[in-house]
This record gives sequence, C-alpha cells and structure tokens, in this order.
Amino acid sequence: LKRLTIPAIRRQKGGTPLVMLTAYTVRTAQLLDPHCDMLLVGDSLGQVIYGLPSTVPVTLEMMAAHGAAVVRGSYHAVVVIDMPFGSYEGSPESAFDNAAFLLKQTGAAAVKLEGGTEMADTVRFLTRRGVPVMGHVGLTPQSVNALGGYGARGRTQEEAGQIIDDARAIAKAGAFAVVVEGVVEPIAIEITRAVECPVIGIGASATCDGQVLVAEDMLGMFERTPRFVKRYEDLAGRITAAAETYAAEVRDRTFPGPDQVYAPRG
Ligand code: KIV
Ligand code: NA
Repeated sequence: LKRLTIPAIRRQKGGTPLVMLTAYTVRTAQLLDPHCDMLLVGDSLGQVIYGLPSTVPVTLEMMAAHGAAVVRGSYHAVVVIDMPFGSYEGSPESAFDNAAFLLKQTGAAAVKLEGGTEMADTVRFLTRRGVPVMGHVGLTPQSVNALGGYGARGRTQEEAGQIIDDARAIAKAGAFAVVVEGVVEPIAIEITRAVECPVIGIGASATCDGQVLVAEDMLGMFERTPRFVKRYEDLAGRITAAAETYAAEVRDRTFPGPDQVYAPRG
C-alpha cells in the first residue's frame, strides 16, 4: 500500500468522495489508515484527549508529538496536521517557520490552518515554498472567543457571502483542499461548485468532495458532540461495560483465572 500524495488528493475533485478522519495516537492511526484517504491530526485533541475548554490553548509541541505518532501508525493516508492557534496568524514568515517545524518533527505531508481572505497571503507564501496547505472556513473553532460559540455559520446573506469569499480566496491562494465546517447546506454546495480544489465537509453537505469527522465523535467516545456527528459505534458504552465486568471479577476473585496465571515448570 503506497502512501497517497497531495496531487492525487487534488485530482479527486468531483470524483469519489474523499474519506478523512482525525487521529491523535498510533493505534488509532493504524486502525483508521486503511480506510481513509487522509488522516487529520486535529487540534481538537485539546478537548478530546487533554480536556481543555477549547482548541485555543493547544501548542505546537502537542501537535508535533501527536503528529509524529500518527505518521508512525499510517502507511496509506495523507497525514495533515493542524497549525494551532497563535502559530500562523502573525505573519507569513512565522507561519512558514512553524509549518516547517511541524513537518520536520512529524513527517506529515501538509498543514491545515483556519481563516479566509485574511489568511490568503499566508497560504500563498507557504504553498510557494513547498508546504501544502489545507484551508478551513465557516465555523472556525480557534475563533471561539470572537464568535462566542460553535453555532452554524452563514445564516445571514452577509455571513454567507463572506464564507464563500473566504473559501474562494484560500483556494485561489493555492490550498490543495479546504474544510468547510458548520455552515448551512446551500453554502457548502455553492463553495463546492465555486472552488477548483476538493472541499471537505463537516456539518456541511453530502455534495462536498469529501467528509471529515472527529474519530472519537463518530465512535461514541466523546460526550458532547455537535448535531452533525453521526455515531457509528458506542465505544464509551463498551468501555464502561468492560470496566464493570473487570471490577466485578477482581472483587469476586474470578480474575485472574487459570489461563492468566503462571504454573511452575516441571
Ligand atoms: O481539529 C479538528 O478535528 C478539525 C476537524 C474537525 C476539521 O479541524
Ligand atoms: Na482543527
């Protein structure tokens, strides 16, 4: 199984929808990799595995450590790593230095960053210097302090127009793909038609060129999930049941049983 490439992802615009899930750890990467075109080391790891209140406190070092684990656990999918809040907004030059740090430390193929027209120059700066960039428009969780929450975007004409302009600007600046998150469906459809690179939806539309979800959300492993998440498993329920059984067996001395203890030799 040869690893997919950024040009191969780009060519899938308008074709079979691209499959993308998040992964933060080696074992999850190993299990999801054969089924995915892309794995996202999302800064959602801040909430999902560190219990932080938002993605804002996530650091470059956290992203680098988890990104390296995901690259070690994958052979097939393109690994994309989120640039955390504060690591790319200041200037194109500092964005390049931090993107280079992430790619060097992890072996990931591309970075993802949030923002629209205001980030277009940075996307252009990075892509022209060998850093493939995935955009992220619509609901951009790193802006939670400015937006005041995680509600769907694009409900007014003005906001809808801005999000479409954002996606256009990022695509025109050279992004190889763009995530559209938490927007009313007609906007997602219009963006998918309007930009030349693959549009990856989350809380968007089945007409997008691909879909992404947080793996823990679709596996039923994280407690608070947005409306757009479909649960394909109930891992939290299964883990609870396993822990209950283990606790009962320890307490009544049925664990360890004969198969789990060492007999003396001879
Ligand atoms: O951090 C993340 O998991 C993401 C996806 C939900 C798109 O950015
Ligand atoms: Na993210």
